[in-house]
Amino acid sequence: VGHVDGHLALIDQTQLPAVLQERQCTTVEQVWESIRALRVRGAPAIGIAAAYGVCVGLQTTSSGDQKALDTRLDEVLRYLASSRPTAVNLFWALDRMRRKAADVRGRMSTAEQRAILLQEAISIHEEDRAMCHAIGRHGASLIRDGQGVLTHCNAGGLATAEYGTALSVLFTAQDEGKKLQVFVDETRPLLQGARLTAWELLDRGIPATLICDSAAAHVMREGKVHSVITGADRIASNGDTANKIGTYALAVLARAHELPFYVAAPSSTFDLSITDGQSIPIEQRPAEEVTEGFGNRTAPENVDVFNPAFDVTPAEYIRAIITERGVIEPVNLQTIAACMAQQKGTQLFSR
Ligand code: MRU
Repeated sequence: VGHVDGHLALIDQTQLPAVLQERQCTTVEQVWESIRALRVRGAPAIGIAAAYGVCVGLQTTSSGDQKALDTRLDEVLRYLASSRPTAVNLFWALDRMRRKAADVRGRMSTAEQRAILLQEAISIHEEDRAMCHAIGRHGASLIRDGQGVLTHCNAGGLATAEYGTALSVLFTAQDEGKKLQVFVDETRPLLQGARLTAWELLDRGIPATLICDSAAAHVMREGKVHSVITGADRIASNGDTANKIGTYALAVLARAHELPFYVAAPSSTFDLSITDGQSIPIEQRPAEEVTEGFGNRTAPENVDVFNPAFDVTPAEYIRAIITERGVIEPVNLQTIAACMAQQKGTQLFSR
């Protein structure tokens, strides 16, 4: 931490909520494994970890050898890019590291280049923190005092540099004095809602009620929730949004109950290179996550399993996307392009 020859310290999210424990990554292989095994997870956090992972990976190059640095950088970027396929923040962060390296290549010593790359990883980290707080400020006006809100998976501080995306909106609403009741989908099969979101909300004193994913329609029907808010792993040019499996079902349910469905995400989650959600690669995870999650066998030995980790919610189901630059509403190709074209700091779409 903090030095080119340091290491990456991560909260091991697989141990939560029982144990709050750090994992020290001293090799790029450990960073890769931490991403793949969801020790660090959530789209922005994956990008930040990968950026630091590049710095850790470059520690094996001997100083003064530009060719060795070039070769190793290429190898490390490719390797980290293979850790998980869906969250575009991973590729966005690796691309920033690649561009920064190209920028400074040959203009200074290899030691200085590595120091600049660490600085870039720190910038990615710090910018994410600022983006999360800005998302909260823009989104809090969508939540009214006394409302019930449903969220899915974990889009909180654990999934980002700090404060979160969807949860940042709720944290900010609470800071503004609004009383909330948050319904938390447990989020099968890895229980990010139960293990992480419930933990984060309780930690901040926000009333949280854990429900099985399959109870969402029922709580909507009973009038207990007034909106749904989730994070995102990748948003296509037209607003189609990939997020944790089950998000699409919630958006359809929200439509059926005439509730607004909101997505909160930083600009680093938008992938303007793809026209729609059909091109988003959906990660397939091991069958054991479904058949024997957390060590308890709950299905017959030879059953076939389909375990996609994400789904895509069509843009037409999304009332608004809350970004650090403001709220995009309605959600379509034009409004997204206009928001993404804005200079940082201008607030064209802000409420
Ligand atoms: O598989 P995960 O736990 O990495 O999935 C995470 C999500 O789906 C989050 O909602 C998303 O990354 C947004 S995090 C701010």
